[in-house]
Amino acid sequence: MTPSRPAPTPALPERLPTVRKDFLSLADFDAVTLEHCLELAAQIKVDRLLGHEAPTAHALAGRHVAMLFEKPSLRTRTTFEVAVRELGGNVVGLQPDVALGSREPVADVARNLERWVDAVVIRTFSQQLLVDFATAAPRLHVINALSDEEHPCQIVADCLTMRERWGTLRGRTLAFVGDGNNVASSLAQACAMLGVNLHVASPEGYHLPGPAVQRATSLARHGARLRLFTDPVDAVAGADAVYTDTWTSMGQEAEAETRRRVFALYQVNEELMSQAKPGAIFMHCLPAHKGEEVTAEVFESSASVVFDEAENRLHCQKAILLMLLNGPAAEPSLPRV
Ligand code: CP
Ligand code: NVA
Repeated sequence: MTPSRPAPTPALPERLPTVRKDFLSLADFDAVTLEHCLELAAQIKVDRLLGHEAPTAHALAGRHVAMLFEKPSLRTRTTFEVAVRELGGNVVGLQPDVALGSREPVADVARNLERWVDAVVIRTFSQQLLVDFATAAPRLHVINALSDEEHPCQIVADCLTMRERWGTLRGRTLAFVGDGNNVASSLAQACAMLGVNLHVASPEGYHLPGPAVQRATSLARHGARLRLFTDPVDAVAGADAVYTDTWTSMGQEAEAETRRRVFALYQVNEELMSQAKPGAIFMHCLPAHKGEEVTAEVFESSASVVFDEAENRLHCQKAILLMLLNGPAAEPSLPRV
C-alpha cells in the first residue's frame, strides 16, 4: 500500500448524529443514523492511512471497552480490538468464565462493569440477555457482537461494502440464500431502511421468523420490498448481489447433519450465480464452508467481495464506537421498538 496522505477529517464531534446508548439491533439506528454511520466509516477508512495522525487516533483516549465472547470469533473480536486501539482506547478482554447469568445475575455483571468501563462488546446466545444487560446499566454502552437473533455490526460492514461497489444502495436487489438466521434478520432491517429490495430463499421451516419480517417491514423506506421464497432460482433472478451464510449457526451444531440435507439445494454455485444480474456480487459474512453453502469457485471468483466485507468490519465498528461513546452516555435508553 503506497498511500497518498488524505486531508484530515473536520472535527468529528460536530459531525456525529444522535444515537441511542446501545447498539443491540440494526433497529437501534434509524435510517438517517445508519447513513451517517456509513459516511463516517468511509471517511475513517480513508483516514486510516494517516496512522497516528488520523483525526480519530485519540478519540477514545482514557476510555475502556470490555469484550465478552461466549461463542467463537475471528473477525468480530479482532476488528473490535484493533478498532479500540486505533481510536486510542483500552481493551479489556473478559474471559467466558464470567459465565453471564450463571455465576452471578446478568444485571449484576452489568452494574459492576458500568463502574469500570465505558462500553462492552458482547457475543452471546440470547438477544433478551443483551437487552437485560443494557437496561441494568444506564451508563454503560452495550454493543451486540452477534446473538442468536441479530448480527448488526456485520450488516453495517456489508452495507459499506455494497455502497463502495454501487454508490447509493437505493433500488438495488439483494438475494439471501439459506437459513433465515441472525445475519438474514439484521440484513432485512438494513435493506428496508436503505431502500434495498431483499429476496430471502429458505427451505420450509427455516424462513425468516415472523417477528423479523414484521420488524423489517415496519422499517421500509423508498418502497423497499422484503420477499420470501422457497426456490433459490426465483430469489436470485435479477439480483445485484447474492448473499449466503452457514447452514448451521453457532449453537446449532447438533442439527448439522439434518441441516446439510435440508439445505442441499440452497448452495450458491456458478449455476445459481448465473441466474442473478450480470456482474452480481457474491457476499458472505464468513466463516464459509466451501462445498456446503458456497462452492470454492464462487468464493474465489471475481464476483466475491467477502474480504472487503471482513475489512469493513474494522472501519464500521470504529464508526459505531465513536457514535455511541460520543452520544448520550448517562441518559437512559429510549424504549426499544
Ligand atoms: N463474520 C463474523 O462475525 O465472523 P466471526 O464469527 O469470526 O467474528
Ligand atoms: N449465522 C452465523 C454467523 C457467523 C458469523 C452464526 O451465528 O454462527
